[in-house]
Amino acid sequence: MSQQQAPERGHFGTALGFVLASAGSAIGLGNIWRFPYMAGESGGGAFVLIYLVFVLAIGVPVLFAELAVGRAAQRNPVGAYRILSGSRIWPWAGGLGVLTGFSILAFYSVVAGWTLGYLFRALTGAFHEPIDAAGSEALFLGLIGDPLQAIGLSALFLLLTVLVVRGGVQRGIERAARVLMPLFLLLLVLLAVRSLTLPGASEGLAFLFVFDFSEVTGGVVIAALGQALFSLSLGMGAILTYGSYLSKRENLPVAGATVALFDTGIALLAGLVIFPALFSAGLEPGAGAGLVFVVMPTLFEAMPAGTLFGIAFYALLAIAALTSTMSLLEVVVAWLVDERGWGRETAVWTLGAACFVLAVPSALSQGAVGFLSEGLPGGSWLDLQNILFGNYALAFGALLICLFVGWRWGTASALSEIEGVGHRLPAAALWGFLVRYVCPVAVVGVMAYLLITGQYD
Ligand code: TRP
Repeated sequence: MSQQQAPERGHFGTALGFVLASAGSAIGLGNIWRFPYMAGESGGGAFVLIYLVFVLAIGVPVLFAELAVGRAAQRNPVGAYRILSGSRIWPWAGGLGVLTGFSILAFYSVVAGWTLGYLFRALTGAFHEPIDAAGSEALFLGLIGDPLQAIGLSALFLLLTVLVVRGGVQRGIERAARVLMPLFLLLLVLLAVRSLTLPGASEGLAFLFVFDFSEVTGGVVIAALGQALFSLSLGMGAILTYGSYLSKRENLPVAGATVALFDTGIALLAGLVIFPALFSAGLEPGAGAGLVFVVMPTLFEAMPAGTLFGIAFYALLAIAALTSTMSLLEVVVAWLVDERGWGRETAVWTLGAACFVLAVPSALSQGAVGFLSEGLPGGSWLDLQNILFGNYALAFGALLICLFVGWRWGTASALSEIEGVGHRLPAAALWGFLVRYVCPVAVVGVMAYLLITGQYD
């Protein structure tokens, strides 16, 4: 079974289904939680600019590389590297992706759990009381520092992920996302309007869009690179795996460009929601992983029907996170099913349970357990996981896929896969150049610079 094309291997029903699932994977906490948190810690405008350059010069080329490999091989990352390379070494690059996805899922589900915690609070009326910046901070610290809530909520979120992934690649969530994601976009636009009209909002705009290169360190550059990859779900084979469920008829150039455009647009929009409100409330941009959670209640406070907006925001954010965790879990499941011959059901439940165990230290690292909460490289255990897997492992994975496509499998083969029957990739020669030279040199350069300067985080 593992060598043959497994008959029950799923397929996306429609091109729209694929775009929605990939956009769903890309759009998530990475845009709303991680982007502002990284931008805030990395000094704002310069980070944003470098991030945008990386999205165009590395993210988009890697996106097409992953799609090509996935669709050509119709396999999970390990199997895809094996089939296309015919070697025993390359599958390890896929293995690294599987490990990275699993590790990201473990801390991601902790943050997603906080979203559920806020949703319950909004539903039970906790935000009826006036909340100022200090009150909002206390609320957040109370939630994340409570071991039972932090662990319980991440378990709940993992359970939701397991239940969805059990059913295979499409169905319910694909249909739900069709309605809910446009709604999320609309809500963000409304929130941005409110945020931008708050007193002091211009300070937030200046923070995001005025760049001061004196703030740029090696840590800022790797953070921007990691963020570009993380936000687009690249560097560990998630988009590769989704590509493997695509039929040859689909228009990859349009699908890939759509995903990149929406994902980046939503990150910037989230910045426009969060930073004006943050400065208006007198909060600190470098507040760390809790940034969004502390800022948002102060924004709802300043809105008519704030509680309703709050409920909608946390519910939609939780759903956006769910369409992302689905893709993370799906990669590991696909590997066990395709390569190891596991049943889908067994794989999903086993991985969900194992991931929960791995999530516990992250859940406890926000105040509940002292030695996990501070003093580690990057701060807490959760910060460390985020930097290690979200920045470094993804950058390394992106390097490997570029080397593979650029120098082993060949950009010509990849290009004919991307273009399929009559879907031209604009600037195809530039794409090949970026994959072969620019991405590898940039990633190796950033890593070497970090080693030399020692500014790891
Ligand atoms: N991109 C998602 C987000 O922005 C997170 C995510 C899903 C991811 N799948 C991934 C990140 C694969 C890296 C790799 O929230």
